[in-house]
Order: sequence, then C-alpha cells, then structure tokens
Amino acid sequence: TSTPRPRLSFIGCGYLGATYAICFAELGYEVIGFDIDKNKIEDFSSGTVPFHEPGLPDLLKKNLDSGRLRFTTDSGEIADFADVHFICVGTPQRPGEAGADLSYIESSVSDLARKLTRKCLIVGKSTVPVGTATWVQEIVDANAPAGLDVEVGWSPEFLQESNAMHDVLRPNRIVAATQSEWARNLLRAAHKGVMDLAALEDREVPVVETDLATAELVKVAANAFLSTKISFINSMSDLCETTGGNITDLARAIGYDARIGNKFLRAGIGFGGGCLPKDLRALAARAEELGAGDSFRFLHEVDLINTRRRIRAVRSIAELVDRPAGPAGPNLEGIKITCLGATFKADTDDIRDSPALDIARKLHAARADVTVYDPKGLDNAEKAAPELNYVKSLADALKDADAVCILTPWEEFRNLNPEAVASEVSKQRVFDGMNILDGATWVAYGWTYRGVGHDLSV
Ligand code: UGA
Repeated sequence: TSTPRPRLSFIGCGYLGATYAICFAELGYEVIGFDIDKNKIEDFSSGTVPFHEPGLPDLLKKNLDSGRLRFTTDSGEIADFADVHFICVGTPQRPGEAGADLSYIESSVSDLARKLTRKCLIVGKSTVPVGTATWVQEIVDANAPAGLDVEVGWSPEFLQESNAMHDVLRPNRIVAATQSEWARNLLRAAHKGVMDLAALEDREVPVVETDLATAELVKVAANAFLSTKISFINSMSDLCETTGGNITDLARAIGYDARIGNKFLRAGIGFGGGCLPKDLRALAARAEELGAGDSFRFLHEVDLINTRRRIRAVRSIAELVDRPAGPAGPNLEGIKITCLGATFKADTDDIRDSPALDIARKLHAARADVTVYDPKGLDNAEKAAPELNYVKSLADALKDADAVCILTPWEEFRNLNPEAVASEVSKQRVFDGMNILDGATWVAYGWTYRGVGHDLSV
C-alpha cells in the first residue's frame, strides 16, 4: 500500500506491550510505550527492563539511543502522537471467578478516547473474551470527541515469554481484524516492518485478515488447544507409569505424524504461567455465557488434569523419600527437600501460577523442610511464597538435601553432574518433574531416580 509508516503507541508496558514497543522501534517505527505505572516508565526510559526476558535489555538501550523509542505516563502525549494505538494491558482472571477482568481495557480505552485529537486506529492485542472488541468500539464512540471517527481493530499476539523478542520480530502468523478498507491498509502499514524483515530473510509470514470475533477467538482457541495437548500427554503419562510404558518414546512416536506434531507434548508437572490456565477458564466461562457451555465442558477436565499434576508430583516425591501419603496426604516432617526452579518455565522470572512454586508450597504444607533455588525467579517467588526458604546458589541449595526436585527446566539443571551433586547431598534421591535428566546415568551413579511417565525405578 502507499500508506506511509504510521506512528505507533503501545498501551500497557507488561511483557507484551514492552516487547512490542521495543521491537517495533527496532523495525524502524516511531514508537511510544505508555503505562500508568510511573516506576515502570522510569525503568524503561532509563534503559532498564523490569522483568527477565533474554535479549530485551540490549534492544531497549539500542532503540532509546536511536531516538525512535520513548515511554510516557501521559495519555495525552500518545493521543496526539500515534496513528495506531495497540492495547496491550492485562486481562487477569477475576478473583474467585473464571472469567476475565476487563477493567484495565475499559479504563485505558476510555481515557485515551477522551484525549484524542485526531483520527486513528485502536487495535486490541490483549487476550479477551469474544465480543470485547465490539464493546471497546462502543466505549470509544461514547468517549472520543464527536466527528473523529475512530475505529477499533483486533490483532491478537502469540508470543511466548522467554522467546518474546523472536516471536514479535519473526511471528509465525499475523491475525488482523478491521472494519474498513482504511483501517485494513493502516494495519497493513503497521505490520510492514515485520513483512519487510521476513522478505529480507527469505521467509514468509502468513496473514489472516478477518473479522473482530474471529480474531478474538483465534487467540483463546490457540491457547486452549495447547493446554489440551499438554493435559492429554500428561494423562497418557499416568497410564505409562501404571503399565511400564515410556511417555517420552510415546510422545516422539505420535509426534512424527505431522497432523499431531511433536511440539507441546512434554509430560511433566503441568502447565502454568499468566496465560494458559486463565485463558482456558475464561473461554469455558464465556462459552457458558453464550449458551455453548456443553461444548466446552472438556476444558474443565483439561484444567483439573493439570491441577492434579501438582498433587501427584507431591505424592511421587513423598514415595521417593519413603513417606508415602496416607489419607490425609503425606507427612514429610524432618525431610530436607531441595526444589530447583520456582518460575513457571525456564528463561523467565515469571512465577504466575507456577507449578514449581505450587509444588514447593505443597511440600512445605506437608511439613517438609523446603529450600528453593531459581536462577532468576527468587525475588518474585519470595514475595509470593514468603514461608519458603530461599538460597542464592545452586551449591547452597543442594547441601545436605534428602531429595532434589527439579521443577523448572532451566539449562543449569539440565547440566547437573550426578557425580558432583552426589557429594553435596545427604541422600541420593532425585525427582525429575520435567524429564530433563538422563535417568539411567543418574541411576548408574547411585541415585534413586523418579521422572514422570516412565518406569519409576529408572
Ligand atoms: C503461552 C502460549 O504458548 C503463547 O503462544 C501465548 O501467546 C501466551 O501464552 C499468551 O497467551 O500470552 P507462555 O505463557 O509464555 O505462552 O508459556 P508456554 O511456553 O506456552 O508454556 C506454558 C506452560 O506449559 C509452561 O508451564 C510449560 O512448562 C508448560 N508446557 C509447555 C508443558 O508442560 N509441556 C509442553 O510440552 C510445553
């Protein structure tokens, strides 16, 4: 199209908005990141990324220097500046309910709309219940100055934390929903940098241009499907344990069928994080509201299977230390358990709905003496679960342990040397919650090894 390069604002500087703001400046756009949190904006403005995301701090500094990127808490500034505003605020689970809390969307959109001085496009990126975009258009119409004709579009994102920069610069697809030819061209221009980079690298980025409802649904469909895949493989892993099967071989074998695919079939302690669990619940709740609850009943089961992983892991650890659970659960008093990992996955400091931290808490509740080590997540973990004991080094964590539990697949844990670790601990017992160790080697060095979904003695 001939539309010139639009100026962009990203509203909400969490993982999503901040990564987008920084990466789109890198792609050559003039960008402002907006957030109501003054501390966050001061951090970004001074070149600090207030969370752990590989590669992002360097890219932030580079683009602050380029002059194309700045951050503000002044919504009037972005209202005057941008041609396209991307809504990237959080949509957390409503406390005590399954549905999503849309209050950040409502407040940020109405605030922006009131300050607008020029025609522009507002594009939602946050994960929302279907129907939200239409409601956002109503908020805009009710608050924007008369005659401005501001349109709402939707373009969900699929980035994974720990791989966020790559996923934004080199997405595997773009979904773009608009309501007019004008908006479609403007959103295409906003994505042109991504397309140009792909062309330069001889790649293609498929684009699905669609309607608002579909764009909203695509995102929750993708996350619900991924969750289902994980719970499915975890259920199969239970059957492997009962029958002497091996889940790793099973996953590999079904994964060779391209219709199934080999990704997201890693059995373990289940999924966590700020997205999959809450999106699953929000989709089921929204389907219920829309009268389609029956078709999504299975999502409750997917969620339950996932929650039970954590209880099962605690039981497995209790058996490992010869304190099998009675009817009231295990009693682990006097047992020193080292938990390696607190974050919900590797290469992040995010502990939201982390299976690792949940298991550590459950062990503590069963009266074990729990010590936690995590390469990046200690500060967040300590705030969320102050009752646990935290140490800053792997060596301190291993010292005199009666059992070592690997709960997050950090590289540092994958590379543990069974011989060296043996000389630190009190008892050579290891629980491998994400199957990242070579069990047979550990057994050869005298360890009692327990993974997930394969022969329990190896
Ligand atoms: C997830 C989706 O993968 C992204 O596509 C999506 O954009 C994002 O949510 C979002 O909605 O914003 P993320 O939460 O960063 O991304 O985490 P994932 O990498 O998907 O991992 C989620 C959980 O599943 C982790 O606890 C991980 O350990 C677990 N998992 C993943 C497994 O247990 N087995 C697997 O095979 C894969």
